[in-house]
Amino acid sequence: MTELSSRHLLGLKGLNYDDISLVLDVASAFREVIERPIRTVPTLRGWTVANLFFESSTRTRISFELAEKRLSADVVNLSAPASSASKGETLKDTARNIEAMRIDAVVVRHAASGVPHFLADAVDCTVISAGDGQHEHPTQGLLDLYTLHEQLGDLEGKRIVIVGDVRHSRVARSGIWGMTTMGASVAVCAPPTLLPSDLDAFPVDVYNNVDEAIEGADVIYTLRIQLERQQGALFPSIREYMAMYGINRSRLERARPGCLIMHPGPINRGWELDGDVADDPQSVILPQVTNGVAVRMAVLYLTAGRGTSALQKIGEPRGLGSEI
Ligand code: CP
Repeated sequence: MTELSSRHLLGLKGLNYDDISLVLDVASAFREVIERPIRTVPTLRGWTVANLFFESSTRTRISFELAEKRLSADVVNLSAPASSASKGETLKDTARNIEAMRIDAVVVRHAASGVPHFLADAVDCTVISAGDGQHEHPTQGLLDLYTLHEQLGDLEGKRIVIVGDVRHSRVARSGIWGMTTMGASVAVCAPPTLLPSDLDAFPVDVYNNVDEAIEGADVIYTLRIQLERQQGALFPSIREYMAMYGINRSRLERARPGCLIMHPGPINRGWELDGDVADDPQSVILPQVTNGVAVRMAVLYLTAGRGTSALQKIGEPRGLGSEI
């Protein structure tokens, strides 16, 4: 186990097997806590966390706030429409003003890739990414790994197929780094227009035909069609996409019996997967959400320096817009 004691979680690229195992082990302890009649522990009493969400969110935002409250931290929330960013304040000034109120950690989601890295350089407090642009969504990647371990045990040799809008997906990027680090074999499948141009940089097999891709899969990880990030038509229609790439009951039979269905949410029923597949006992979409609270408690605990943290500040700022 590495002894690095860093304060940030900005991405999964660069974390090693022991780093991720540490987070999952700590999350396992907190997973038990959130099933107790009294689900609050005093671990982060006196710690203050600011949740800065400059992009919409249901799961991640509520999950972080619950995790913080379960750990007895003080919590403040700021969303884009209510912030002074709408009056022209730069992100750096917003963050430094919040820091001046003596907060200990910032959880940030932003549409621009690289914002958590930028903030980590600009402020002295802990920075945790809640998803940045098309870069990474590290706590989603960790909660997915927790769910995979809970369901499958060791991931060595397991075949995971990520289907859908890989090009615009920070979930896919964190997933690929995390899953391969933990020993899984990962394939991605999408029409060529929904695959990233730098795919060679990722340790994955690539398919354009979903029926071939999911043959013998242990896990099918479906991604949301992110129309809000797409500039121009990247496929003819939702109906054609569902016919070619959507996960339905008959397609599922090509995978390994008992193949898990995962999705980061929000799901679009009838777009990337059929509603009955989403609700099938093989689907772990809601357990992913439950596990997210425990995983975020673990990340807060470790970045607060309450455990032996192996989390590192990773990567360089990129794709930063002039608004920052
Ligand atoms: N998975 C996820 O990031 O969902 P939200 O956008 O609702 O936070």
